[in-house]
Amino acid sequence: MNPQRRPLILDVDTGSDDALAILTALLSPEYFEVLGICTVHGNRPLPNTTENTLRVVQLLGSDVPVIQGCAKPIVAGIDKLRGMRARANEKQLNGQEKVAYHAEYLDLPPALRGPLPGTRAPLWYIDTLMKADRKVTLVMVGPLTNFALAYRIEPRILEHVEEIVIMGGGHDQHNATGASEFNIFMDPEAAAVVFECGEHVPLTVMPLDATHHANMRPRHEAIFRSWGSAVGDFVAEMIRDRLDAYNVMQPLHEPDIAPIHDALCLIYLIDQSVITLKKRVRGDVVCGGIADGATLFDTRYFTDAPKNCTVCLATDEDKFASLLIEIFSRAK
Ligand code: BDR
Ligand code: CA
Repeated sequence: MNPQRRPLILDVDTGSDDALAILTALLSPEYFEVLGICTVHGNRPLPNTTENTLRVVQLLGSDVPVIQGCAKPIVAGIDKLRGMRARANEKQLNGQEKVAYHAEYLDLPPALRGPLPGTRAPLWYIDTLMKADRKVTLVMVGPLTNFALAYRIEPRILEHVEEIVIMGGGHDQHNATGASEFNIFMDPEAAAVVFECGEHVPLTVMPLDATHHANMRPRHEAIFRSWGSAVGDFVAEMIRDRLDAYNVMQPLHEPDIAPIHDALCLIYLIDQSVITLKKRVRGDVVCGGIADGATLFDTRYFTDAPKNCTVCLATDEDKFASLLIEIFSRAK
């Protein structure tokens, strides 16, 4: 077996870019043995993110288990004031058209199979990791509720974790509020627990500073459409939705770019040179108050704060795009 082939668990809130992260993982069997895909609240409510995940898995004809996780954050939802000034997911244009980062349901056939019965993601993490005969890599690209709960219940699971990679946070860039990134903002306490895990296992954080340069553009949309296949059409559609949503609701440093945040975590595990600047730092999460969900990366070279993560800060956009296209072409 390829020694680089990692046992992998994905944790998603599917989600247009989550969908492309799932495709990246499942279409890279030489790198990843996907043990299961856990779902969580986030881009849409849990029943939608679970159904959407099942639809994507079905698109590839994969039998990987999908495990339903938590529908709410651990504590953040209790204090209603904590949701202030968060961004919206969709916007009505001209009273008719609507743009959304993440459709209510992905435009794929309804799933014929359901999530794994009789369990929930935090319990499944404990069961799967405690029995694992090789260390497992975790890629978590939604709110971090599932794994935080699992770790609080059974901390020994970390002994079976090779590495954790999360999409979340921002150093200079924010999208949920003026201080925070969406995945962390949705469950700051859970994120704080995962940063605590970084004191024991390697934790790589892929914040907006890196993912805003993991882009697809109209020319890439055209390539996928030209394939005339189910996967090509689906990917093109996800890119189009994201281009429209970003142009209208969150213009970035250039028009017509669609960050595929979540897929960058997998591309990074395949080829670390896609990240052109990363630093080993202390990372912390603000829980509550005006900066609720903010991530603080202490990049001072002279700090003596104990380091707990590697934060990725810049991306080779061309390398990201060409790897993504090559991987998706396998399902052409
Ligand atoms: C993150 O938030 C979600 O909307 C995306 O799926 C991504 O995981 C970006 O802030
Ligand atoms: Ca996501």
